Amino acid sequence: MNKDLKSHWEAIYQNKSFEEVGWYQAVPETSIQFFEKLNLPKTAAIMDMGAGESRFVDYLLEKGYTNITLVDISAEALKKTQARLGEKGKSVKYIEADAGTFKATERYDFWHDRATFHFLTEITAIEHYTQNSCRSLKPKAHFLIGTFAEGGPKICSELEVFQYSADDLSEVFARCLTQVKAIKTDHVTPSGAKLKFVFCLFKYDG
Ligand SMILES: C[S@@+](CC[C@H](N)C(=O)[O-])C[C@H]1O[C@@H](n2cnc3c(N)ncnc32)[C@H](O)[C@@H]1O
Repeated sequence: MNKDLKSHWEAIYQNKSFEEVGWYQAVPETSIQFFEKLNLPKTAAIMDMGAGESRFVDYLLEKGYTNITLVDISAEALKKTQARLGEKGKSVKYIEADAGTFKATERYDFWHDRATFHFLTEITAIEHYTQNSCRSLKPKAHFLIGTFAEGGPKICSELEVFQYSADDLSEVFARCLTQVKAIKTDHVTPSGAKLKFVFCLFKYDG
């Protein structure tokens, strides 16, 4: 685990409320729209990589999903989510890990990553993430990723970030995923800035 990176994110979650951070969404609408169309069974194994305090898990629990795993480099983010969910989140699995080195021990039907992958800027971490996610998907699984798009920020939360086109993401995950659909969308931050995002849904080829 990269300790500097971890301290950076811990400090953010210790010092800011979710409503104050640039990536805040009251409802993660784009992710939900993609997810709903898949009509996955309530027992589907779902991974949210770099979940932070995202309300995607709230939506999943509300819909009756019972096998949800949240991974984040920040223990504080996971603690805040656990506290918010309380009793209704008792089935949720929380894993404190760095996406650039994390090795999943389960296999998933649906992998979600909004605004985490673009923080990986070292080739070894990107390579590890793609290998690990490919190894951790079940046959017919789906993989939904949202990253900064071309023309999006180059720095976010004082860290370097990468921008991707839908074609770039297809290339990065080509070892096991085929693109089903891609859309460009703007995320409007709490301060009103518009940040260019691309969301890509992939299907696992395995
Ligand atoms: C921009 S936030 C997005 C959070 C959440 N996905 C959402 O949509 O609200 C990025 C998240 O990724 C986490 N993160 C950053 N680098 C990470 C890494 N290398 N491994 C795991 N999580 C990481 C941060 O702690 C943070 O929660």
